[in-house]
Order: sequence, then C-alpha cells, then structure tokens
Amino acid sequence: MRDAVLSMLLDNLGNFVSGEDISRQLGITRAAVWKYIRLLQSEGYLIESSTKKGYCLRQVPDILDEVLLTRGLNTSILGRNVEIHSSIGSTNARAKELALSGAREGTVVIADEQVQGRGRLGRSWVSPPGKGIWMSVILRPRLSSQQVPRITIMTAVAVANALKRSAQIDVGIKWPNDVVCGGKKLCGILTEVHAEPEVIHYAVVGIGLNVNLSFEDLPEDIRDIATSLRIEKGKEFNRADIIKSILQEMEKGYLQGLRDDGFAGLLKEYERRSVILGKRIRVIGVDGQFSGYAQGFGLDGSLMLRLDDGRVERILAGDVSL
Ligand code: BTN
Repeated sequence: MRDAVLSMLLDNLGNFVSGEDISRQLGITRAAVWKYIRLLQSEGYLIESSTKKGYCLRQVPDILDEVLLTRGLNTSILGRNVEIHSSIGSTNARAKELALSGAREGTVVIADEQVQGRGRLGRSWVSPPGKGIWMSVILRPRLSSQQVPRITIMTAVAVANALKRSAQIDVGIKWPNDVVCGGKKLCGILTEVHAEPEVIHYAVVGIGLNVNLSFEDLPEDIRDIATSLRIEKGKEFNRADIIKSILQEMEKGYLQGLRDDGFAGLLKEYERRSVILGKRIRVIGVDGQFSGYAQGFGLDGSLMLRLDDGRVERILAGDVSL
C-alpha cells in the first residue's frame, strides 16, 4: 500500500492530491493515508500537507526504492526483477548465487553500500553508502565463452550512452572495461561467467559507478586516478534515473549489439569513445607485458596491439596504461 500511495503522489509530482482521493482510490481510511504519508516523509520524501488541498510531493530523495527504480523503466528483460539491499558484501557475489539457483535473465541486484565490493584482477572496489551505483545484472547470452568480452564492451558503451543522456556528460572508454572522464576512472565493469566452451550458463555484469562521491569520499590512494559525476559536473545526481537509463541502454545493446551482425556497429561506437585507439600504450596482459600502438579491437572484444617490430599482438585481457 505504501507503494500505491507513493505512485499516486509521483503521478502528481508538484501538485496536490486530496487525502480523500487517495483514500477512495486505494480503498483505505484517511488515517491510513496519513500513516503512509508519515512513513514516506520519514524515508526522505518531501511531502507538503495542507488540510484544504491534501498532499503534494515536492521532492524525490536519492534513495534506492523499487517504485522509483521500476517506474517508467522502458525494458522488457533487464530490471523486471530487482533485488535491493541497503548493505551487502558484493552485488556480483549475490547475483551469482541467484543465477545459480535459476534467477531469471535480467534480474538486477542493487546495493546502497558494498562492504566487500570487488574489482577486476582481485582488486577491491570502494562502495560507500548512498553515493554510487553498485549493481549487477544477470544475463544468459547465447554466446560462446570466447565471446564473453563482447558483454563488457556492450556494457561500457551502454553506460557511456546512458551518462550522456541522463547526466549530460561525455565519457571515454579505456579498454577493456573502464569508463573514464578527464583521464580518471568514473566507472568499472566486472563481468563474471559460468560457462563451458560453447555455452554460457550465466553472466553476471557488475557495474560500479561513482555518482555522488566527493573528492574526500575517495580513498587518498585513488584520488589521482578516480573521479565521480559529482566531481566532474559539480552537482549531485539521482541514482535511480541513471540506473534506469543504464538498464535501457544495456537492453538495447544486449538485444541488438551482441549478435554477430550488431556487434560490428557496437564496436564502432566503442572505438569512437576509446581513449587508447591510435595511442602508444603499455599493457600488462596474462601472457606478459607489451608496449605498442593500440590499432583496433577484434570481433571477440580483444585488443590489437601493433608492436615495435610490426607484429600485431591480439590481447584478450589485461590492464592498460597510457
Ligand atoms: C573494475 O574496474 O575493476 C571493476 C569494478 C566493478 C565494481 C562493481 S560494483 C557492483 C559489482 N559488485 C562488485 O563486487 N563489483 C562490481
């Protein structure tokens, strides 16, 4: 019932709805309406009440509320099922548990805070409460395990497009999984799969996006390499709006971009946003360390690196420095 009251207020954002209308429409007493209004106010919703005019929702707080996350979400698969946590170890770990027990494709796990957030290559991921988007999406793509890097590429492009749309910011992509701004990392993507060579049972795509972290919120040791939307744009953002935008862009990429015919187009977008293409870089890969020019990206998501002796090395995974 709380959700129904909230929905009515959201339908009339900035306008008054009478207590009588709410009570009639939802079949509850005026006293019950007041109880839910008080509850929503205590959660941070700014609701004005007037004995004559009723209730008016003036401001929506930046909280991870299922109503806010699913309202107006224009997807058919991603985010149709959402699990929200105020605090969790890692959303990727939780999503993997859910995927193993048969959770449906598109299920999203979101947390306000992660206390054991994980990054690539065994690193940790700083995920303070209320400041970022820490979420994981369960996919069941029809790809071979060699094509797994496509998922990360698709997600990086989706995040970049979503940020352009919902935060009016132009970001770059640093192969394979970093979304960057002004040379600093804004978002990281961690794709984990349970797969056999020819089939992927599930993929969990973890997205960590620094939204409202201030410079001081970043641990000192990453202040020169990490950033947030707030630091870049000088204002705070509503996480639910950005989450919805990411899910919408991801679903588009998932349905069109992962197929062989769609991936070439997606790769073009990825290249357009690449901050390493044509540049001299150093890569620490699984097979060793290389220096050379980033020449392009393969249809499997690999990086083509032109070495100084002219040979082109195809690198499947690694860490790039410029
Ligand atoms: C990286 O750049 O190293 C990847 C970082 C991925 C962080 C996200 S936050 C949500 C999800 N849960 C995790 O534990 N990690 C990913």
